[in-house]
Amino acid sequence: MPKRTATLELVLSPRKPGVTAARWLVGALRTEILEGRLRPGSRLPATRDLARQYGLSRGTIVAAFEQLKSEGYVEGSVGSGTFVSRVVPDELLQVARRDGMPAPPRGTAERRLSGFARRVQLFPGYTIRPVRAFRANHPALDLFPTALWAQVASRRLRRASTQMLLGTDPMGYRPLQEAVADYLRTSRGVHCVTEQVAIVSGVQEALDLTARLVLDPGDRVCMEHPGYPGAALVFEACGARIESLPLDEEGMTLPGVRARDAKLAYVTPGHQFPLGIGMSLRRRLALLEWARAARALILEDDYDSEYRYAGRPLPAMQGLDRRGLVLFAGSFSKVLFPSIRLGYLVVPPDLVPKVEAAQSITYRHAPLLAQAVLADFIVEGHFGRHVRRMRQIYAERLSVLLEGAERRLGGLLEISPVEAGLQTVGWLEQGIDSVAAAAAAAARGVDVTPLSAYARRALPREGLQLGFAAVDSQELGRGIEQLALALEGELRRIRHRA
Ligand SMILES: Cc1ncc(COP(=O)(O)O)c(C=O)c1O
Repeated sequence: MPKRTATLELVLSPRKPGVTAARWLVGALRTEILEGRLRPGSRLPATRDLARQYGLSRGTIVAAFEQLKSEGYVEGSVGSGTFVSRVVPDELLQVARRDGMPAPPRGTAERRLSGFARRVQLFPGYTIRPVRAFRANHPALDLFPTALWAQVASRRLRRASTQMLLGTDPMGYRPLQEAVADYLRTSRGVHCVTEQVAIVSGVQEALDLTARLVLDPGDRVCMEHPGYPGAALVFEACGARIESLPLDEEGMTLPGVRARDAKLAYVTPGHQFPLGIGMSLRRRLALLEWARAARALILEDDYDSEYRYAGRPLPAMQGLDRRGLVLFAGSFSKVLFPSIRLGYLVVPPDLVPKVEAAQSITYRHAPLLAQAVLADFIVEGHFGRHVRRMRQIYAERLSVLLEGAERRLGGLLEISPVEAGLQTVGWLEQGIDSVAAAAAAAARGVDVTPLSAYARRALPREGLQLGFAAVDSQELGRGIEQLALALEGELRRIRHRA
């Protein structure tokens, strides 16, 4: 039985003069099916509705449906519904697939686009792939309490008021803003009132908002090197110039004279991306002092500091700021699941009206029902329980990685000590090249990212980023063995060449 999808009003290509209504309708519906706009299994509109929509007799529509049925494009019967066939004749589908994206119409090469459109680039490697060892930046999605989430969500949807269907303030759903403000004050040492919390669609939106409010083409932004490319791409799309500052054991080094006029510094002080360094208190204070003197702002990306396994929890840098120099961004992607697309941006009080105005003319607000479900999930204590449970599981997975690496990767990869987050870094030994090592690992079904993917110039040392949270101990064990074999292979290749 075909899947019963909802019938929407169908917009067909216009009828050319001299073509009969029946021929036009058959041709137009066939094109919709072949080009994939009418998916296999989807229901065609009722003959009565189509007749009304296009001012045709019902008989014409019925005749067109019958013809398409005889050609194998549709099935079912008038009265009980007509559906696009699950299996459209093979060679026809191949034609549709081969066509793929239509060729650009003539003249598009000379399109007059904005500077933003010329600069914007696809996030490299942005593809959704199945998770395996050592996928970084991912929580353990198989351990997310989906049944509980569904319970909270269905209760919220059943009781959805008309207000819930209408919309909310651009800064977000008030109970979620309150829950986030409470959480950030107590768990992250953030200094804020509820009104300063903007609910956004993840840190990426927070970056985009900040960039649009702070940067003009040509402005300079300071960033950690190596650093998070997802931030650099946003700033560069706005026309900013990136000043990459090296890291030392205290975190990002201070902007020097070249960056004297920088308007923004983007940092990950809780758990530097990708090296995992926690920025020292001394460096945080010095960076705040730099921002004050330079009349610059700091964007603190606290993307995964909920998970800390050792050492003292480092409160947010925002909590040290009394001058309104820091915007603080965080996300539910790592702590819950990435497709939730919810996060927050805590803004200095004077910038609240600007953020509110920018949201009101673009995204309006993050999806309200999702915000309400999340607010319930936090307020009812499920969020806190989930974080505590996952912290323990991730700590166990981290020790599996560290023990396995000590046993099997000695002399090949030196794992950096890690206190927080979902990933760490392994430093390659004996001149092994990180890009070649990652390719050899991928060939053995293991995901590691060369640190050079996060660098804009050569790094003093080659390394790999390894995630330890997303998969269980068995998969981590397989990953360690396969990575060891891949690195040994690389080493043999180097020796052979020498
Ligand atoms: C350092 C860093 N910041 C921000 C993000 C984006 O987070 P979100 O999913 O909330 O947009 C990521 C995602 O991996 C990240 O690694």
